Amino acid sequence: MTNYKIALLAGDGIGEEIMAEAVKILKLVESRNDVQFELNPAAFGATAWFSHGHSFPEESKTICDDADAILKGTIGLSHEESKKIPLDEQPERGGLLPMRRRYDTFANFRPVYLPASLGHFSPLKPEVIGDGIDFIIIRELVGGLYFGEKETGVNDRGLRYAREQLEYDEEQIERIVRIAFETAMKRKKTLHSIHKSNVLKSSVLWTDIVGEVGQEFPEIQVSHVLVDAASTYMCLNPGQFDVMVMENLFGDILSDQAGGILGSLGLMPSACIGPEKSYYEPSHGSAPDIAGKNIANPYSMIGSVAMMLEMSFGLNQEAKNLWQSMQSVFAAGYSTSDLSKPGTGVTIVSTQEFGDRVAESLAALRI
Ligand code: IPM
Ligand code: MN
Repeated sequence: MTNYKIALLAGDGIGEEIMAEAVKILKLVESRNDVQFELNPAAFGATAWFSHGHSFPEESKTICDDADAILKGTIGLSHEESKKIPLDEQPERGGLLPMRRRYDTFANFRPVYLPASLGHFSPLKPEVIGDGIDFIIIRELVGGLYFGEKETGVNDRGLRYAREQLEYDEEQIERIVRIAFETAMKRKKTLHSIHKSNVLKSSVLWTDIVGEVGQEFPEIQVSHVLVDAASTYMCLNPGQFDVMVMENLFGDILSDQAGGILGSLGLMPSACIGPEKSYYEPSHGSAPDIAGKNIANPYSMIGSVAMMLEMSFGLNQEAKNLWQSMQSVFAAGYSTSDLSKPGTGVTIVSTQEFGDRVAESLAALRI
């Protein structure tokens, strides 16, 4: 029996509701595998700021430091509510980015997956979707503009200005690019490196390093694609992509676009991998408009559990089973009202019921 400690950071908005479904699945996984999970909830996000005075309070840091993996829900408030919190302490700047930095979670995996049978979720035409959408965005998560030096002030013309620095060194680029090549080796042996080297020097360095690391992976076919063009191709022909790698801000933007071509960010789980510790989270926000209504789809949260089972605990078969279970609930015609409209041939169920159905389907699969 292996014991794992998991820190649970439910966060804000729909975080609690979708986390409850993740916990349901973890308990089931525990009951049918040789593992035991110690689940340790910790305050995080705007909720934590109001209750503890910090978005990532010291107690939560201790729980996370002590955990084998961290499962995070969603953070953020409505624009109005956010304004009650000082700028640097808002949950993104005061909680999430410090967590990424603390655990150096440089490798962000965002799978973009929609089988052809679920093509109706996507705004793309069936002929564009073809056999389905199936690629992965690998985003550098602890560098670039997000973490560069920042300065604001008034310049000598009396004008307010803001300056932020975009810097990458070769080590930072090499480690993420290497992960991307390794991932490509396990998939279709193609890699799209996304850049803007017609303008940015950081992209010139990025592209050079992709070339250098690529020498070690002669089997991989590498394509260099400008980020603006990549966003068009993602809509016109997503089937050409398998593994994409890019710097932090490009990855932020393109991964939301990827959620768009699937039909919802609710279909975007993610893994944030560091040298020692990793955390797992939906790629989307806390959807304050639908919080507490029991209608948010827990797919991205449960998908993040699947990624944790595989990447942190090596429970590969169970991870596969979990993906399959979620797909089978959709395939059986169930969905939630945040993803689907009534009258489109689907049966609308609640967050909880969706989680129950995933659990039921998982229980029926062999380990
Ligand atoms: C994401 C989110 C975050 C980011 C925000 C919440 C800071 O949009 O994980 O993509 O920009 O990285
Ligand atoms: Mn984002």
